Amino acid sequence: SYSVSSAFDFTPALFPLSSTAGGYTALGAPATPSLERANTLENLEKNKTLTYLNGLSLVIGLIIGSGIFSSPSQVNLHVGSPGAALIVWTISGLLAWTGAASYAELGGAIPLNGGAQVYLAKIFGELAGFLFTWTAILVLKPGSAAIIAIILGEYVVRAIIGAEVEEINPWFNKAPALAALVLVTLFNCISTRLTARIGDGFMIFKFIALAAVTIIGIIVAATGLSFRTPANTEWKTVGWLDNTSHSISDWAVALYAGLWAFDGWDNTNYVTGEFKNPTRDLPRVLHTAMPAVILCYLLANISYIFVLPFADMNTSNAVAVAFGSKVFGPVGALLLALVVSLSAFGALNATTFTSGRLVYVSGREGYLPDIFGRLGLGTQSSEQQRYIPNKLRTRSSITKFLEKTLGDNDGSLFLTPIPALALNFLLTTIYIVIGEFKTLITFYGCAGYSFYFLTVLGLIVLRIREPNLERPYRTWITTPVIFCCVSLFLVSRAVVNEPGQTAIVLAFVVSGIPVYFWRVAGRDGRGKLSRGEEGKSWKFWKRWRGS
Ligand code: ARG
Repeated sequence: SYSVSSAFDFTPALFPLSSTAGGYTALGAPATPSLERANTLENLEKNKTLTYLNGLSLVIGLIIGSGIFSSPSQVNLHVGSPGAALIVWTISGLLAWTGAASYAELGGAIPLNGGAQVYLAKIFGELAGFLFTWTAILVLKPGSAAIIAIILGEYVVRAIIGAEVEEINPWFNKAPALAALVLVTLFNCISTRLTARIGDGFMIFKFIALAAVTIIGIIVAATGLSFRTPANTEWKTVGWLDNTSHSISDWAVALYAGLWAFDGWDNTNYVTGEFKNPTRDLPRVLHTAMPAVILCYLLANISYIFVLPFADMNTSNAVAVAFGSKVFGPVGALLLALVVSLSAFGALNATTFTSGRLVYVSGREGYLPDIFGRLGLGTQSSEQQRYIPNKLRTRSSITKFLEKTLGDNDGSLFLTPIPALALNFLLTTIYIVIGEFKTLITFYGCAGYSFYFLTVLGLIVLRIREPNLERPYRTWITTPVIFCCVSLFLVSRAVVNEPGQTAIVLAFVVSGIPVYFWRVAGRDGRGKLSRGEEGKSWKFWKRWRGS
């Protein structure tokens, strides 16, 4: 089975390798010395298990989430016409694709786990890599979890009170959002394997939801059939570009909403080191996944337009519920609301897993206080815990009960990064309480795209600085240039339109600088990655490349 934790020794790999339980052995695995040995750098080469198809399901599974069911309202509201909305979806899809192509080149040239953190460290120095991780812990991970939770909350509320009610007190949405967060955090604390099983199970709902939207829309459009009269015919009569907004900031906000739905394309890069053949498969995965997702999203959006009058799409973030209600009435609304909330629950569960791991790895690396790098309740280091033989463990009656019901009796229950999960829980709760979908989308997009911009800019810098570096995959130079221009535009619009929000993002990033000098800079064996030869990752990389 996989041993993702090989990455723990030198760089935060954020992701479970595949959705199978094997990928989750990293933290909750039985406490055997052999596992510990498997985690060393020497064995990394033997643990290359990801294939093309694993990579594909990993990245598609991560990208398709809440966005396609909720972002359409934000896109429509801002650009004003169905044609313009489709243009925004196309542009954001293509932009995500250029980003993915650029990351494919970086992943091939630097085939290590850790994604942007490693690339930034190599190109701009370790401080840049550290600030990325710092921002991911404080803003990106909890921010995106909060968005998903809020969408989940909105769908749960819609399932209960129906699609027709226009104004909902935001606290109604936040209550189920918080409840879901408590639940997934609890699952994550109990068992990694349980988390994995839940993740696999809920994945299905997402495909059901997306397929249902597409198929129903096409049937409705083709046959003019609708269980509810009158059927929507607006799309046949109204000009698709009428009322299009001419304001650049409207388009920027719409793009952020579209980009949210495509976000997650960088995630295979976190586990590049685990691919059997990263230089061949990473680009192949990304060049299949991106067009596939773009196509799915365009179909789903066309389907929304066929079924719903354009104005109806703007009223709530729960577009899919309005859609279900239009076609099948209250039952349809309820069904779609349930399916989408389940899909969002699965996404929340998965993102909580990866956040826990990110914080945990940062604790072990010394980026954060030691307690966050501990398993269980944090009284023992993970090494100590791993070596306690199962029969010597003292187990509470709760643990015994869970072991029986879950069938997990190898001592791995509660051997999860609980302090790390608690930190993530706290931060996500704050974002849920003070934020709302609209503002969080821009906030997250601004923070995320600043780092995407920097990383892809790094690709260009690296081409100039090290023209002879072996690059098994090279994208056209136009790709990173386009990506950099558009993301710079997006970030600068956010600075102009949302100075308050960007100031907060900046404050978070900058707050990492003293932490870096306090905890990271100048330590043995660290802080050297940027200077090249001696860094651990660097040495491994050279060996891996056989040079
Ligand atoms: N695209 C996803 C959605 O529509 C969100 C991805 C969040 N980002 C991440 N790195 N997990 O829900």
